[in-house]
Amino acid sequence: MAGETKSETILDVRNMSVHRSGALVLSNINLRVEKGEFVGIVGPNGSGKSTLLLTILGELAQREGTVSLYGKPPSPKRLFGKIGWVSQAAANLPHDIRLTVKELVQLGTINAGNMFSLFDRKRHERVLKAIELVGLESVLNTDVGRLSGGQRQRAIIARALASEAEFILLDEPLVGIDRASRNALLKLLDQLCHDEAKTILMVSHDLAAIRQTAHRMIYLEETIQFDGNTEEFPGLSELADLRGIEPVHDHMHDHAHDHHHASGEVV
Ligand SMILES: Nc1ncnc2c1ncn2[C@@H]1O[C@H](COP(=O)(O)OP(=O)(O)OP(=O)(O)O)[C@@H](O)[C@H]1O
Ligand SMILES: [Mg+2]
Repeated sequence: MAGETKSETILDVRNMSVHRSGALVLSNINLRVEKGEFVGIVGPNGSGKSTLLLTILGELAQREGTVSLYGKPPSPKRLFGKIGWVSQAAANLPHDIRLTVKELVQLGTINAGNMFSLFDRKRHERVLKAIELVGLESVLNTDVGRLSGGQRQRAIIARALASEAEFILLDEPLVGIDRASRNALLKLLDQLCHDEAKTILMVSHDLAAIRQTAHRMIYLEETIQFDGNTEEFPGLSELADLRGIEPVHDHMHDHAHDHHHASGEVV
């Protein structure tokens, strides 16, 4: 158990704006994440979710404001091994990659401290556990290039889980994953937060899934339009208001309708 840990700020983004190809993509972002939090990010296509994660990781530079990860600007070298990253393109690994699932996951466990002891037993167990958690035991020794898109995505997730990363960022990890593995994955992420005080930032279009798991939710559309407890996350009609969408029919505002759609993919 994490026990009585006093709060520790993992991420602190202040007044940040980001441009891509000259166009403003993110403006005035303020976001603080404490250790052990599970934060879900939702927003429509092109609203800047991936851009936000890439800027946090230091892969993209902000135009204004500051990003602070573990108290300093992000630097891949300093953060090596501390951060787990599951990218939106994870399922698009090259087809000719000559690496088995086990090898791929094992790569996630390499860090500065164990570079020369690839095969110690504890690491091996961790690798097998991660593979089991994402349900890929049956393809353990299969080349990654021969997996389906959803299986590859799960292999990438297993790699992040097997690493000892404290802060795990996931961009659309649920795409291409069947319902049963999806639920298992969400449960696992939740456990990692509670039992190991891991910090998780997850982008997903699957509002229902993210709502059932994240403790805190962010609605992003160029800037952060909502940031609060999951229970307080706006219903569909309020979301439409947030987005400045005029309701087409008045009856769309009734609760039964909201409830019906809340179980699907709406953003
Ligand atoms: N490599 C790039 N060069 C220039 N502009 C880009 C690039 N990638 C994305 N953009 C633009 O930045 C904006 C935000 O894109 P981003 O990928 O962050 O959105 P997103 O919320 O992750 O969308 P999705 O839900 O489709 O993944 C979009 O207008 C997009 O066209
Ligand atoms: Mg994206």
